[in-house]
Amino acid sequence: MSQRPYVIDQMISAKSIAARIEALCSEIHDAFEDTNKLVVVGLLRGSFVFIADLVRELDLPIEVDFLEASSYGDEMTSSREVRILKDLRSPIEGRDVLVVEDIVDTGHTMHHVHALMDSRKPARLKTIALLDKPSRREVDFKADWTGFEIPDEFVVGYGIDYAQRNRNLPFIGKVRFLETDE
Ligand code: IMP
Ligand code: MG
Repeated sequence: MSQRPYVIDQMISAKSIAARIEALCSEIHDAFEDTNKLVVVGLLRGSFVFIADLVRELDLPIEVDFLEASSYGDEMTSSREVRILKDLRSPIEGRDVLVVEDIVDTGHTMHHVHALMDSRKPARLKTIALLDKPSRREVDFKADWTGFEIPDEFVVGYGIDYAQRNRNLPFIGKVRFLETDE
């Protein structure tokens, strides 16, 4: 699949992302106004650009931690197993936590990560996703904050990859495969 030639069409500009982050941060600020420290948990790797912009727009005392999860599909049962490849460095019991994800697609990853974080008994637990593809959902999950709802398109840029490429694009673009003769 990674061999097929493709072009990237811009879907969401860097300017629109920045404006949306400003609005989201004002809501996050209101929700955690009284926190003594907010643990901002970024899901590696796709959220690394989003989390960098988000924390610089958040006027709150924060700590940053990272979690890496991977989901493996089972085509026979259409079930998915989510594995934790890298866990948090610090315990979150009794703490305020904001989990930051790039895209909620089928919902399996965030459903699992949310349950895992919740089992550690944080004081408050909220989630934010830059993008949401509601039409692709297989398990119920809705982030507390969403940047943009998008249709069922494969997107890249702003931290998000296609076969580990294009994470460095400053905007969100959709991958359009070109017709070939073979
Ligand atoms: P979910 O478990 O299906 O919700 O998976 C979400 C993860 O799939 C995201 O964190 C992304 O890493 C990946 N993903 C989903 N849609 C896209 C896309 O359009 N481009 C790149 N990665 C995607
Ligand atoms: Mg991801």
